[in-house]
Amino acid sequence: MQALTVIPKKASSAEVADVAEPSPSEGSVLVETLAVGVCGTDMEIVRGDYGWLPPGRDRLVLGHESLGRVVDAPSGSGLAAGDHVVGIVRRPDPVPCYSCAAGEWDACRNGRYTEHGIKQLDGFMRERWRAEPDAMVKVDPDLGLLGVLLEPTTVVAKAWDEIGRVGNRETWKPKTVVIAGAGPIGLLAALLGLERGYEIHVVDQMTDGVKPDLVRALGAEYHAGHVGDALHAPDVVVECTGVPQLVFDAVAAVGVGGVVCLTGVSPEGVDVTVDAGSLARSMVLQNTCVVGSVNANKRHYEAGAQALARADHDWLARLITRKVPLARFADALAHGPDDVKVVVEIAS
Ligand code: BGC
Repeated sequence: MQALTVIPKKASSAEVADVAEPSPSEGSVLVETLAVGVCGTDMEIVRGDYGWLPPGRDRLVLGHESLGRVVDAPSGSGLAAGDHVVGIVRRPDPVPCYSCAAGEWDACRNGRYTEHGIKQLDGFMRERWRAEPDAMVKVDPDLGLLGVLLEPTTVVAKAWDEIGRVGNRETWKPKTVVIAGAGPIGLLAALLGLERGYEIHVVDQMTDGVKPDLVRALGAEYHAGHVGDALHAPDVVVECTGVPQLVFDAVAAVGVGGVVCLTGVSPEGVDVTVDAGSLARSMVLQNTCVVGSVNANKRHYEAGAQALARADHDWLARLITRKVPLARFADALAHGPDDVKVVVEIAS
């Protein structure tokens, strides 16, 4: 069967190759891939900046934002042929550490977790994959292709969960939120923030086009410019770009007792100049919290699946700005200014 494979840490190594059918040792449920979303992490892997090979192998199958259809599942597994499912990206470490043992692999303590399509486990950009029933989540079949948005939605479901836990360390009545970045993560963070009843401001560089339109269609405010220009002293800033300068801008912009949540995996080796004393002083004097948030556990997958099922499907459909067949994967990896989510379609 066909798959998009890469050699992690080697630039421009991506190619469609023939790979073996998934082995029954990968799990008892056989899934046919419908579509796989492409995100910044995939681009980093393809550029040779990120990713880890499976042990003993010379290529990794890319893709962690999956949508598939169950072909075969054991009876009693809660899954049946035809169900739409999304594979859970991260798997617990083998020790396991106490977080992985508690099902919180997103908080793995020893770094020995694995991630499909990213770290030591083949991804989903192949015609078929296998996993155990507890390593996938059902999605509402009415979502159709939109089910492919679940994985990025889980990332923001976790971010909102963390923001709430951190903010509630003291009496906290947040109203205003600034989201940096109107990519898929920023837009989905806006969707889930509006559901929580917050006033949402999204900041990005584009002055017009699909991103500002999508923000406004959601009922949030769009600002072209800098994080600090969007709104004075918001209660929460969700940083969704990973751009190092914006991380510091977010910390400087947040209001008293505010929470800054960092969701982007920043590139290494970027120096920025900051007045560290002034930043640290205001963080102390204002009780600022900065929380990094990565990945998602089953609770977040379930919350994400419910949020997508409740959301306006027409708005969600506008997030998928391009669909590309596997053979034209290079087009999928070329990100245009008006691209939000590009999806590789594997089967219809
Ligand atoms: C994925 C996460 C993953 C993270 C770090 C993100 O792009 O969505 O599932 O944990 O990269 O590898």
